[in-house]
Amino acid sequence: MKIAILPGDGIGTEIVAEAVKVLQVLDLKFETETALVGGAAYEAHGHPLPESTLKLAKESDAILFGAVGDWKYDKLDRPLRPEQAILGLRKNLGLFANFRPAICYPQLVDASSLKRELVSGLDILIIRELTGDIYFGQPRGRRVSPDGHFPGAEEAFDTMRYSRPEIERIAHVAFQAARKRGKRVTSVDKANVLETFQLWKDVVTEIGTQYPDVALDHMYVDNAAMQLVKAPKKFDVVVTGNMFGDILSDAAAMLTGSIGMLPSASLNDKNQGLYEPSHGSAPDIAGKGVANPLATILSAAMMLRFSLNQPEAAARIEKAVDAVLTQGLRTPDIYSEGTTKVGTAQMGDAVVKALG
Ligand code: NAI
Ligand code: MG
Repeated sequence: MKIAILPGDGIGTEIVAEAVKVLQVLDLKFETETALVGGAAYEAHGHPLPESTLKLAKESDAILFGAVGDWKYDKLDRPLRPEQAILGLRKNLGLFANFRPAICYPQLVDASSLKRELVSGLDILIIRELTGDIYFGQPRGRRVSPDGHFPGAEEAFDTMRYSRPEIERIAHVAFQAARKRGKRVTSVDKANVLETFQLWKDVVTEIGTQYPDVALDHMYVDNAAMQLVKAPKKFDVVVTGNMFGDILSDAAAMLTGSIGMLPSASLNDKNQGLYEPSHGSAPDIAGKGVANPLATILSAAMMLRFSLNQPEAAARIEKAVDAVLTQGLRTPDIYSEGTTKVGTAQMGDAVVKALG
């Protein structure tokens, strides 16, 4: 088994270092290889996803990814921007199913932006389709000027698009995940306005008939945004498209206290996966040693469970994270009065120690 380690930019290098520490003490027999990606790869090779990095990713069983991006690259042509690396990896490896669990740890219930009773015990799973929708629609988004819809004015467009097979496979993933949890799927769409999401709704409904043991309901995305902050515990599994999932999963992240706590997995149909925290490269705190490494450490646990067939090791990591929170250790993003403020490396060391 081989793991590709792609730390990336900003806090990516700091948080991935802590996850690697944790993997090392588990003494599992994996080969690892590290490569540059994002802005770091652009600096060294002139491209955010060099051929060598893509090759390593393709031949690995799993990828542990940090984050990419920095405001200093905003002026680059879009294909050269760091964020294209993560889009390229998703597309090239066919990583269509993005799992984003949002779990509120009882120790952090007061770090949530919502009232304690609304989030206490929260455990929802957002499943975001990752390789279709408006982020990848053909024709590709571009500027058209000056002869578009509004003569003489500069314009831009992007294309929202889904095909039946793309919707079918993500629907199957959602229903199968729900079977192992609360047996409820909420499919989020905008079928009242968008034809793409009327197809989405029709296909999810059809696939749902194959899972009579799972309850299915449909919700428009605007209402889903409202319900997520009004009564988040009503949800079990939420399945939605690429763009709605991007936005709703960040909102769900905040319910749990900090985006620094939220892992993610992106899988293809061969169970090969890319594992990364749900957050970005956080340039505002990069290099300061204060980033929360727990989302990345929990992503490594998901990697052991989903792609490397090591569920016991995954559970050990999750237990160790729970233990350090119970000890009262907090990076600044989850700090509250009466707890102990620690930095990135101290938090990683504490998890290592809790692993025993
Ligand atoms: P961000 O997720 O990097 O940061 C949002 C806020 O959360 C910031 O205040 C940051 O300090 C905080 N934060 C994020 N992770 C944290 C952690 N582990 N511990 C403590 N605080 C944390 O999103 P933002 O600022 O919109 O984007 C920054 C860069 O990251 C951009 O270049 C963006 O394109 C990129 N990005 C990359 C992603 C990826 O690599 N998959 C995903 C999202 C954004
Ligand atoms: Mg996002």
